[in-house]
Amino acid sequence: MKILGIETSCDETAAAVVEDGTKILSSVVASSSQRHAKTGGIIPEVAARQQIKSIIPVIEQALVKAFEVENGKLEAGFSHLPLLTSRIDALAVTVGPGLIGSLLVGTETAKTLAYLWKKPIVGVNHLAAHIYANFISENPKSKYQNTEQGSRLRRKQTQNSKFKNQNSKLPEFPALALVVSGGHTDLVLMKGHGKLKWIGGTRDDAAGEAFDKCARLLGLPYPGGPAISAEAEKFFNSSRFTDHRSLTMFPRPMIGESNFDWSFSGLKTSVLRQLNGKTPSKSSVPMLAVEIQEAIVDVLVEKTLRALKKFKPRSLLLAGGVAANNRLAEKFQKKISKELHEKVSFHVPPPHLCTDNATYIAAYAHFNFNPADLKKISANPQLTITGEI
Ligand code: KG4
Ligand code: ZN
Repeated sequence: MKILGIETSCDETAAAVVEDGTKILSSVVASSSQRHAKTGGIIPEVAARQQIKSIIPVIEQALVKAFEVENGKLEAGFSHLPLLTSRIDALAVTVGPGLIGSLLVGTETAKTLAYLWKKPIVGVNHLAAHIYANFISENPKSKYQNTEQGSRLRRKQTQNSKFKNQNSKLPEFPALALVVSGGHTDLVLMKGHGKLKWIGGTRDDAAGEAFDKCARLLGLPYPGGPAISAEAEKFFNSSRFTDHRSLTMFPRPMIGESNFDWSFSGLKTSVLRQLNGKTPSKSSVPMLAVEIQEAIVDVLVEKTLRALKKFKPRSLLLAGGVAANNRLAEKFQKKISKELHEKVSFHVPPPHLCTDNATYIAAYAHFNFNPADLKKISANPQLTITGEI
């Protein structure tokens, strides 16, 4: 089954065609993140306006790319659309959570296309869908295309990724999934597809939000995660770095508590206090970045490891934009092999599949195929990871 996935929950406009939930035929991402870099965060109105501009060209490119191998080189152009749309079996669209203006662009476009093309449509929970990036096997020859500004960052993250996922097998259930994105941090147990149980999460800021807010204090651009990670890398490669254990500048809230919850809002205050309210000098940024990164990574790994020991799942699935962080994946890998003696198979998608794109939207729809009446597909900005669509 070939599904066209559409994702517009935040500042990325993405479309992808995925076959049988695992094989990427195309993936196109247009990002407005650079427009938000100056303001240090997303302005919802600006993001929504960009979504409107990008949505049709992005969907069209995804269809052209997906089927150009079969058809020979195709120029982008609407005359091909009837031919291309006949090749897809269904549409899948993110209904939430996210920004209402951005979500509306995706849901209304997808519904209109489903109606015109007479295809079934599946409403997708963005957070649960992130997990499905772990089910996608990368075909190096697949026709990949990331457009505009977002692409540079995505390609850079993947090229710079030191962590190589050795795990080519499909994840096995029961699984534990840690979803760490810009707006959410959730730990869920998965008995199977669609069988999610929430066991913990953040009580205030999300992990990605902590990266973004701390980056702003350091004078780094939005999105803060990749920026902090790149600065931290500079420190790791310098002679000033000795040992990870010496990185103790910032607190690790709730690390000793027996629950599976996090709190990240205090980190920003600690960083602010350390900086005395001033922007740090350029030379001290890599050291501060590495300290911030280590504080976030430490609590995420520690609490998740505790859950692995308690629930003994067969797999750990890392997902969401923060899963693109090298150090996070590396620390999980080391701790799992040391403390759990590799009893859990660890999965983390390549960085460009961790951050928002439509491949996992289509993959989710394949494994949770539940087409809905058009009237039932509507934007839901407040949807939780286990929430009903
Ligand atoms: O999942 P995502 O692309 O969008 C949401 O659904 O929110 O996640 C975006 C978040 C941002 O907060 C960004 O700073 C963070 O993921 N992020 C990273 C890295 N790449 C993206 N955080 C840490 N390290 C990274 N390499
Ligand atoms: Zn996301």
